[in-house]
Amino acid sequence: MLDLAQLRRLDSIACEKRKVFLRLDLNVPMRPDATIADDSRIRAALPTISLLQQSQAQLVVASHLGRPAAGEVAGYSLRPVADRLRELLGSRVHFVTDCVGPVRQKAMATLAPGEVLLLENTRFYAEESANEPQFAAALAEGMEVYINDAFATLHRQHASTAGMAGYFSHKAIGLLVGSELAALTPLLSSPHKPFTLILGGAKVSGKIELVRNLLSNIDRLLIGGGMAFTFLRAEGKAIGSSLVEAGKVRESEEILKEAARSGVEVYLPEDFCIRREGGEVEMVDTLGATDQGLDIGPKTTAAFVKAIAGSATLFWNGPLGVFEQAAFRGGTLAVAKEVVASKAHSVIGGGDTLAAFKQLNLLHKVQHASTGGGATLAFLAGKRLPGLQALL
Ligand code: 3PG
Repeated sequence: MLDLAQLRRLDSIACEKRKVFLRLDLNVPMRPDATIADDSRIRAALPTISLLQQSQAQLVVASHLGRPAAGEVAGYSLRPVADRLRELLGSRVHFVTDCVGPVRQKAMATLAPGEVLLLENTRFYAEESANEPQFAAALAEGMEVYINDAFATLHRQHASTAGMAGYFSHKAIGLLVGSELAALTPLLSSPHKPFTLILGGAKVSGKIELVRNLLSNIDRLLIGGGMAFTFLRAEGKAIGSSLVEAGKVRESEEILKEAARSGVEVYLPEDFCIRREGGEVEMVDTLGATDQGLDIGPKTTAAFVKAIAGSATLFWNGPLGVFEQAAFRGGTLAVAKEVVASKAHSVIGGGDTLAAFKQLNLLHKVQHASTGGGATLAFLAGKRLPGLQALL
């Protein structure tokens, strides 16, 4: 595993009056009318930007937005992000429609110390995701320092997140990456016990490596959401017409066995919230052939809450029911209330989990809400993060 102590931090690099390239994750959800639906990731980047502005750096900022197909630009421009950044910083933020080449160089030439130049979406270039060396060199051209504060994109080996770092001898992580690593690292190395892992969301796939990697560290594993039915199927329980990943039943069974061998207490749903054909919502202990579990029931919720109450470390990824619908957010709400009330070292991660906390008006009370989705899972799964490797 990566030795995090080897990473240089922003405060150990001289940025005063230098040309600094700052890679951020400004991949914010956009509404169909091209306005920003949630600016949390822009806000999370502000401390690093402000610090660099204070050191009078000439700041070139880059990010991707979404996953535009080749040639597709409508709805993927970072221009609205530049406008929001300007409002939040209360200072000059320039925007250019190119990431490399003469347009950017011209804008750079007139950029005053402390000013910000935001480049257009890096993914408008196919060379970005291909980590193409010439493109990486062009991104680095004329710049003196490289700072990566794009925590949520550290698992991508792209030109702006990894390739271009090779062209710098002065490079470091930003403040957001520093605080994310500080919150997440204790979950991997000697967490305070008992450590409870809460998993939900639709799919088991994407979380299997995380569970396997954390099994030796955790004491309790609470599984809700759609993914619970794949585990219940592995236990031979009736799941009605609930969501199931048939291809993951065997792996789920292996995880349950491994958990038993490691002495991990596993909590699976023992009752469910369903919707009858006529529309009425009902709690059931057993799912009939046509029943679809849409939330954990009250007995399960009580068991989850009790397991959390005695925990010293908590990590939660994935809602426990279809929280977008009021009738099926009871489980997520009760468990979320317990998490924010807990004195445990608590971290939540993943877009849906944060969205659920936001909808429940509890996001501001969480000890650490990770800005990463895939990156957080990859880090906790013990995977190498190219964005960090490139800084060594
Ligand atoms: C995210 O939202 O998880 C990051 O911005 C990475 O986006 P990606 O999955 O499209 O690479």
